[in-house]
Amino acid sequence: MRRFELTSTIGSDALTLVERPLPKTGPGQVLVRIRAAALNYRDLTVARGRYSRGVKLPLVPLSDCAGEVIEIGPRVSRVCVGDRVAALFFQRWLSGPLKPEMHDTALGGTMDGVLGEYVLLDADGVVRIPDHLSFAEGATLPTAALAAWHALIAAGSLQPGDTVLLLGTGGVSIFALQFASLAGARAIITSSNDAKLERARTLGAQETINYQTTPRWDTRVKELTNGRGVDHVVQVTGGSTLEQSFASLCLQGHVAIVGTRSEQPGAITPGMLVQYGARVSGINVGSREMFEAMNRAIVANRVRPVIDKSYAFEDAKRAYEDFSKAQHFGKVVIEL
Ligand SMILES: NC(=O)c1ccc[n+]([C@@H]2O[C@H](COP(=O)([O-])OP(=O)(O)OC[C@H]3O[C@@H](n4cnc5c(N)ncnc54)[C@H](OP(=O)(O)O)[C@@H]3O)[C@@H](O)[C@H]2O)c1
Repeated sequence: MRRFELTSTIGSDALTLVERPLPKTGPGQVLVRIRAAALNYRDLTVARGRYSRGVKLPLVPLSDCAGEVIEIGPRVSRVCVGDRVAALFFQRWLSGPLKPEMHDTALGGTMDGVLGEYVLLDADGVVRIPDHLSFAEGATLPTAALAAWHALIAAGSLQPGDTVLLLGTGGVSIFALQFASLAGARAIITSSNDAKLERARTLGAQETINYQTTPRWDTRVKELTNGRGVDHVVQVTGGSTLEQSFASLCLQGHVAIVGTRSEQPGAITPGMLVQYGARVSGINVGSREMFEAMNRAIVANRVRPVIDKSYAFEDAKRAYEDFSKAQHFGKVVIEL
C-alpha cells in the first residue's frame, strides 16, 4: 500500500510517498481502506516541527480520515466489514475526562496518522459516519467538528437564544456556526474577507464583521448585542485576539480556548476573569462519546460539512501548500 511519510520537519516538502506492506489485523483491530482525509491547522504545525507534543520521524501525517472497514480481527464486535467509519483523533479517549495515557494516542502526532491507502486501528478508535455524508464529508468530523461541538455544546452548554461569537471562517468556526444554528443560537462571525462573510450568512450567521476593516470588532460586537456582549466565544485565534474576545463577552460569558493560531501568547489575567465573571474552557478535540452525540445531531439536522476544496491523494503536497495560505472557507480534503 502507498502512504505519505514526513521524513523531516521542513514543511510539506518533507512529505514522501512510500510503499509499505499491508498491515495484518490483530485481535481487537480493524483494517480501514481510507477514502478521504482532511487537513487541520495542527497538521501544518506537525510538518513544520512546531507541534507542542513533539513527533517521532518518519511519521504518517494527518489525524482525520473516513473509509470503509475491509477486515476485522478476532474479538471485534462493535464494527463490521463494510461499515463506513471515521477515526478518533485521540484513539483511546472513549468517554469521561481526558487522561494522560489517552493524550498520547493522537493520530498524526504522537502516533502514525492516516495519509495512506489503508490504516490499522483499534476497533474502539473508530466511529460510524452518518449515512447522508460522503466519505469526504465524514473525514472532516474527527477534529474540527468535534472541537466545535465540544466548545459550544459539551463544555459550553449552549442554549437556544444564546449569542455566539466566531472568529474567522476556517474549519472549526464554520462547524461552530452550523452547530450554533441548529441549537437555535444567534451567531456573529468575523472574517478578513467580505465574500466569505456573505457565504457565512447562507449558513445561518445573523451578523458579520470584517476584522480587517473593523479592527475594533469587539466594540462592534457590543453594538450588535445592545451593549450586552455574547454568551460564548469560540477562541480559535490564540493570544492575539484574547483581550478583544473577553471585551466581547457578556457577564458570566464562556470562552472556549480552541486554537493557538497566533504566535502571541496573550494573557488571561485574574482581573479579566473577575471583571467578566467569565468561564474559560480549554478544548482538546473530544471523546468518542462526544463524537457519537455530535453525529446524532448531524443526522437529526441533516448537517452537511462545508468542503472548500478537494485534492487527489497524489496532490497531497499541493493540498498542504494551499491550505497553509488560509484562503479556504470550512474544510480542505484529500480523496483516495
Ligand atoms: N483544541 C482543539 O481541539 C482544536 C481542534 C481543531 C483546531 N484547533 C486549533 O484551532 C485553530 C483553528 O483551526 P482551524 O482548523 O479552524 O483552522 P483553519 O481552517 O486553518 O482557519 C483558518 C482561518 O482562521 C482565520 N483567522 C486567522 N487569523 C485570524 C484572526 N486574527 N482573526 C480572525 N480569524 C482569523 C482566517 O479566517 P478568514 O479567512 O475568514 O479571515 C483563516 O482563513 C488552530 O489553531 C487549530 O490548531 C484546535
